[in-house]
Amino acid sequence: MSRSVVILGSQWGDEGKGKIVDLLAHEADAVVRFQGGHNAGHTLVVGGEKTVLHVIPSGVLTKRARNLIGNGVVVAPRALIDEVRGLEEKGIEVRSRLGISPACPAILGCHEALDRVRERSRGKKAIGTTGRGIGPAYEDKASRLGLRLADLADADRLEQKLGGVIDYYNFLLTRYYEADPVDGARIADEAAEMGAELRPMFADVTGELHEMRRAGKALLFEGAQGSLLDIDHGTYPFVTSSNTTVGGVMTGTGVGPGDIDYVLGITKAYTTRVGSGPFPTELHDADGRMMAERGVEFGATTGRPRRCGWLDAVALKRMVRINGVTGLCITKLDVLDAFERVRICVEYDGVEGFPVGAEEWERATPIYEDMPGWDGSTQGLTDQNKLPAEARAYLERLEELIEAPVHMLSTGPERDAHVILQHPFSG
Ligand code: GDP
Ligand code: IMO
Ligand code: MG
Repeated sequence: MSRSVVILGSQWGDEGKGKIVDLLAHEADAVVRFQGGHNAGHTLVVGGEKTVLHVIPSGVLTKRARNLIGNGVVVAPRALIDEVRGLEEKGIEVRSRLGISPACPAILGCHEALDRVRERSRGKKAIGTTGRGIGPAYEDKASRLGLRLADLADADRLEQKLGGVIDYYNFLLTRYYEADPVDGARIADEAAEMGAELRPMFADVTGELHEMRRAGKALLFEGAQGSLLDIDHGTYPFVTSSNTTVGGVMTGTGVGPGDIDYVLGITKAYTTRVGSGPFPTELHDADGRMMAERGVEFGATTGRPRRCGWLDAVALKRMVRINGVTGLCITKLDVLDAFERVRICVEYDGVEGFPVGAEEWERATPIYEDMPGWDGSTQGLTDQNKLPAEARAYLERLEELIEAPVHMLSTGPERDAHVILQHPFSG
């Protein structure tokens, strides 16, 4: 019996993690974010109503689960409070059900400013970040300069630590980037105000998780971004600044590897990417446009159009191994309904071995295997017996290539549009 399930994106993000977390959260006692920040955009559709979550765990729409933000998450206090208030306006009780680690690095206005100015200065080499200050906040954590949420909630500590950070950033912004400085006094006031508002939600997330685990409670860890955006294993430097792969669960919450029973790899039936960087199977033709249109492929955080392409079994197999994936959830299968033939990249030409970084990735040319598309619709399908034979064959071929079993299917944005072949919590 799996009591502790990790949900990870196995591509470049936006695989549909939020939807699956929301769906499984009915059986979870806690839903936990462990990395990333409000660069994430997780879409939940329940009864026709859409909710996009950025840093609050996707268990918040269910009554049962406690929602926890672990120490590995970088938190922009204002963005988090705005998200809490937005949910409260919809009549959702959040504060009593949300626990935030005071050890989370704080994202402040200076981080956001540097992220944006730096992207601008990169010109054509820009990473295409979400502009949320994620990179600079993680940099400050590693350099030990940054403030944590605990520092914001304590007036003396805030005053002691913030001045040096603002000086440093303003030096960088004005002298190196020749940009405007940030307003230190404003950042300080807002940090103090937001720190006070967040304080009642502070929790010993690590301790709570240890207790829940001992009591046999069901835990759900919610990944943000995707494995190919991992700072170590992704398409560096076109990546995010955290470990989006399974290791992030441990460093970002303080549970051990033995506390993970099951890893669900959320995998879009094709591939998308927002922002710049290598993407071997990217399409610039009618097929790509059809994916974008049918899949409504626009970023949930920035609204940018997502680049689209065929499924890449080479990259997927590697990510599945890195994460120790137990089972796959294939999402957006319905988007492929309209295609007469579907393609899977089974090999790369032009590179030896698995690409190391962007330079090698750029040389990877996909070799495809073609399969017939399917007649009929999988949209909203909930009965596995109604799966068209060709769709079943596509999934079986995937299982073979990736060497991991398909345990779930998602067939529409709505919570109910899914098929569970093997339940993560009972497998
Ligand atoms: P996340 O970041 O991994 O949570 O994914 P996003 O929410 O950014 O993007 C996934 C998009 O696809 C959202 O608009 C979802 O509502 C939608 N979606 C999720 N699953 C399915 C599915 O099975 N079929 C279709 N057509 N849309 C889906
Ligand atoms: P979810 O959780 C898709 C991408 C950005 C950019 C790169 C670095 O919704 O799947 P950052 O702001 O993190 O420094 O940007 O990572 N990126 C995402 N792409 N989905 C996301 O989150 C992403 N979060 C960051 O577009 O290419
Ligand atoms: Mg998203």
